[in-house]
Amino acid sequence: TNNIFILAIESSCDETSASVIADGKVLNNIVATQSVHEKYGGVVPELASRAHQENIIPVVQEAILSAGITKDQLSAVAFTRGPGLLGSLLVGVSFAKSFAFSLGIPLIEVNHMQAHILAHFIDDPKPNFPFICLTVSGGHTQLVLVKSHLDMQVIGETRDDAVGEAFDKTAKLLGLPYPGGPLIDKHAKDGNPKAFAFPITRMPELDYSFSGIKTAVLYFLRDQLQENPKFIEENLADLCASIQYSLIEMLLIKLKKAVKETRVSEIAIAGGVSANSGLRESLTTLAAQIGWNLYIPKFEYCTDNAAMIAMAAHYKYLKGEFSTLDVAPLAKMKL
Ligand code: KG4
Ligand code: ZN
Repeated sequence: TNNIFILAIESSCDETSASVIADGKVLNNIVATQSVHEKYGGVVPELASRAHQENIIPVVQEAILSAGITKDQLSAVAFTRGPGLLGSLLVGVSFAKSFAFSLGIPLIEVNHMQAHILAHFIDDPKPNFPFICLTVSGGHTQLVLVKSHLDMQVIGETRDDAVGEAFDKTAKLLGLPYPGGPLIDKHAKDGNPKAFAFPITRMPELDYSFSGIKTAVLYFLRDQLQENPKFIEENLADLCASIQYSLIEMLLIKLKKAVKETRVSEIAIAGGVSANSGLRESLTTLAAQIGWNLYIPKFEYCTDNAAMIAMAAHYKYLKGEFSTLDVAPLAKMKL
C-alpha cells in the first residue's frame, strides 16, 4: 500500500510520547508518564530530560510495533520543537533528527501549542472554522482564534502564571501532592464554591493573570492557621471549591468577552486543565444557555501526548512544510 505513515514524538515537559498516524488517522498514542517529580512538588527539568532519554526508544518502538508497520514504511518523522523545557525538547529533537536522517525521510517540526488545538481533529465531532480555542494547561493559558488548521492567532494570554500552575501552586499551599489540579477538582465536588471569596483578577483586553490568587491564598491560610491549626483539614472541600470557582470565573469572563468581540460561537477547549470537571460543567451550561457549539477532546488528548503532534504533522506534510537537519528546539515559540 502507499499509505502515508508519520511517526510523531512529544517530549516538551514530563511525558515522553510517540504516536503513528496513517493518512490523517491516529493509530496509537503511547505515553510514558514520569513519576520521579512527585516527591519534589513540581517538574525537575534535569530529571525530566534524563527520563526522556530512558523512555524515548521503548516508547517509539512500541508505537511503530502497535501500528503494525516497520520503520522502513515511515514517510516522515515529526517532533515538538517548542515551547517547553529545553533539555526535554532536546531529547526529542535529537532523536527525531537522527531517525529521519538514518531513514532518509523528511523531518517535520511542530509547535506544541498548535498541536494542543489540532487535537480536536483526531476524533469527531470536529469544530468548524473559525473557532475560538481556550488552551489551558500547566504551562499555558491562551485564547486562540483558529482560522484554519495551520492559521491561528493568539487573541489573549496570561501575563504571568498559567492556570494549571495556579491550580498546582494553591494545591501545594493546601498540602496536596503534585500535580494538585486533579485533587482540587476532586475535593471541590464536596465543597461550597462561595465559602471563601478569593480574588478575581481583571486584566485589560483578553489577557489573564493567575499569580494573584496564589498570594491571596497564602496570606489567607497563614492568618487562619494562626487562629486554628486545623483550618485546612476542617475546610479542605470548601477551600478547593472556592479556589476552583475563582479560577474558572477568570477563564470564563475572558472567553465570553472573546466571543462577543469576534462573534465566533464555535468554542473549543484544550490542554490538561480542560479535564477539570467544574470547568466542563460551567462551560456546558454556558454553551447551552448562550448557544455556543462546544468541543471538548477526550482526556487522553487534553494532556500532553504525541497524537496531537501527529495530527499537526499530518497537515504540515500535506503542505510540504518540512524542516532541515539544523533545526534547534525553542523554549519559547510563538504560534
Ligand atoms: O497539558 P498538560 O498535561 O501539561 C502541560 O502542558 O502543562 O497539563 C497539566 C496541568 C497541570 O497543571 C494539572 O494540575 C492540570 O493540568 N490538571 C487539572 C486537572 N487535570 C489536570 N487541573 C484542574 N483540574 C483537573 N481535573
Ligand atoms: Zn501541553
